[in-house]
Amino acid sequence: MPRILIVNHAAELGGAEHGLLDIAAHFGPARCHVVLFADGPLRARLADIGIATTLLAAPRSLLRVRREDGWRALTAVPSVLLMVLRLAWAARGYDVLYVNSQKAAMVGMLAGLLTGRPVVWHLRDILSPAHFARLQRQAVVWLANRAARRVIAISEATQQAFVACGGDPRRVAMVPNGIDAARFAGIDALDAAALRVGMAPAGAPVVGLFGRITPWKGQHVLISALPDLPGVHAVIVGDALFGEVAYRHALHALAERLGVAGRVHWLGHRGDIPTLMRMVDLVVHTSVAPEPFGRVIVEALLAGRPVLASDQGGPREVLGEESPWLVAPENPPALAGAIRRTLAAPPGDVAASVQAARVRVRGLFDVPQMLRRIERVVAEAT
Ligand code: UDP
Ligand code: GLC
Repeated sequence: MPRILIVNHAAELGGAEHGLLDIAAHFGPARCHVVLFADGPLRARLADIGIATTLLAAPRSLLRVRREDGWRALTAVPSVLLMVLRLAWAARGYDVLYVNSQKAAMVGMLAGLLTGRPVVWHLRDILSPAHFARLQRQAVVWLANRAARRVIAISEATQQAFVACGGDPRRVAMVPNGIDAARFAGIDALDAAALRVGMAPAGAPVVGLFGRITPWKGQHVLISALPDLPGVHAVIVGDALFGEVAYRHALHALAERLGVAGRVHWLGHRGDIPTLMRMVDLVVHTSVAPEPFGRVIVEALLAGRPVLASDQGGPREVLGEESPWLVAPENPPALAGAIRRTLAAPPGDVAASVQAARVRVRGLFDVPQMLRRIERVVAEAT
């Protein structure tokens, strides 16, 4: 059995980190160890499942680099090299480096070249101009073509963008995310109803948006749609995990300016997503740049709720291209229209559509199936 060193730069709980938890739990403490470049809640969650972590705290100059930085990212080169040496040392005794985030990929692939260890890159981003500066796309793909034995893409959109950037198609395996349906099976309807009390007046429709607060997740699109949706309340679940505090302030100011602040409820980052999804009448996904996958869309369906999602990237694959729930991205009037139509549709029809979509996602995005495919990729890499 190969010994696997999983590397992730962040320790906040975004979708990539939820995916990492499933994978690390599957490999188990005997086969894997996790290296993080920062401390945060992921460490405790890994400890809970018996997985040990090593914290290789990265210099601020590396953690500060943003996807859109381009040439400015070159200021982080010395810290990248330092981290490569530290990771190469930490990798003694491991057979594979399994890199799960962009910064981990850059450092991990260089450490792979230095030590001759095979690297598997779990690519969870769309390498397109909407997400990354050209230099960053080119650098990471150039490196992947030399250092990543296998690249796991989480969606067709992710795979296509990698190849469009010059990524070697023979290295890629498409393995969609699996979501644990059991977590959404036993939601207590009374708990969900209790959460709703005091938030919106009885009988007022409640729409939920779940995801970290960052400009590309498009929380502003929902807020901008609210003036066209009199009486509708919005619940925004998630927080600015990676420093996007200015955007969060701008969202509050936008809600005030549009006169809808009394109908927007900010819940911050939460651990009770299944119950909160059941609490709302409708889930919306508003990403303005193509979403690489979008776990929250699958989760909403598993929780038994209809979900309107931006018509691009992962959501198209998750819902299916023909889905009536796909909505033009970054278009508040289109979103408002779709919300109105869904809230006004006969409940029996909505429930039947949710049930059909739920059966679809349970089949396509199953955790054991994802893990079997990942095992195969890791075996091919070693
Ligand atoms: N999530 C959470 N608490 C929150 C908001 C989101 O636990 O307050 C979870 C959500 O249930 C999902 C993940 O974070 O599993 C977000 O994954 P997604 O793929 O939708 O987006 P990402 O943040 O990875 O871009
Ligand atoms: C990334 C993507 C998201 C995806 C998640 C899990 O964070 O933004 O779309 O679902 O990774 O792979």
